[in-house]
Amino acid sequence: MSKVTVIGAGNVGATCANVLTMNNIADEVIMLDVREGFAEGKAMDMNQCNKMLNIKTKLEGVTNQYEKTANSDVVVITSGVPRKPGMTREELIGVNAGIVNSVCGSVLKYSPNAILVVIANPMDTMTYLTLKSTKLPKNRIIGMGGLLDSSRFIYNLSNALNVPAIEIDAMVIGGHGDTTMIPLISKATAKGSLVAASLSAEKQEEVVKATMVGGATLTALLGTSAWYAPGTAGAMVCDAILKDKKVLIPSCVYLDGEYNQKDICIGVPAVIGKNGVEKIEQISLTEQEQELFAKSAEAVRSMNNVLVEMKLV
Ligand code: APR
Repeated sequence: MSKVTVIGAGNVGATCANVLTMNNIADEVIMLDVREGFAEGKAMDMNQCNKMLNIKTKLEGVTNQYEKTANSDVVVITSGVPRKPGMTREELIGVNAGIVNSVCGSVLKYSPNAILVVIANPMDTMTYLTLKSTKLPKNRIIGMGGLLDSSRFIYNLSNALNVPAIEIDAMVIGGHGDTTMIPLISKATAKGSLVAASLSAEKQEEVVKATMVGGATLTALLGTSAWYAPGTAGAMVCDAILKDKKVLIPSCVYLDGEYNQKDICIGVPAVIGKNGVEKIEQISLTEQEQELFAKSAEAVRSMNNVLVEMKLV
């Protein structure tokens, strides 16, 4: 019996739970929120699709009842506040760090063996905080950002090339921020051929830029940050873990010398299976990509330093 807990029944958490149930990825899903009745309402709405969509997954929404989350195999953490106008980076980190820390303490009390998937932003920093504050082995903490950014990269390539997304392979590494992510255009392929051969340099640059501002573009259109692709990406990381798929997913993981970085959580290709991060894949990067990765790590580290200044790690 596989069980997933999704913390936060907001846009991203509810979408994640919805994808988990609609695709029968887990046998049981608990969705938990602090807002009284909110997770219960969302779960009731989703459960009313069960007959229509032939859903077998047992989904329950709860308000702060952590005992219901007991023995989860995976816990997805989406609880957090978005950055509000006038809020400094430090304030956002402070608020979300408090939420992530208290959530981790509560979930691990009931699911001491769970693998934690962190989605709350700033994701690279929240993943690092989760690792440091829980002191769990590094394979059990996965930040979800790279799969989302890679999916957005593939979407943009699909539009530029007029090739269906399912025939494209492409990856984004580095931080999960619009100035820190690195869409690896040199390695992207469509129908098995390098896209660099069929897209002009100008078009390639356009695709990379559109990918980097992908989150902000959606926020401007929607008035809040996006949820369909982020929630789906969270569910697909669960799928890889629960079904021991051992698939390569660009993920925010702890580096201890890989890619010339230490003591940082940042996006790199990782094999995800039943133990969480099963292996960090060392792919060859061009000199320019290596430089960009080092810069990205520097920016992520400066965000992590806010945690140090606040004595949170
Ligand atoms: N415990 C449980 N749930 C909490 C807690 C907590 N301590 N604090 C906040 N929440 C809940 C809120 O009540 C809300 O329902 O988390 C939910 C967050 O949902 P939204 O505000 O809709 O935010 P969402 O768009 O889902 O984004 C969640 O994911 O992509 C990131 O930047 C995004 O950090 C944000 C997170």
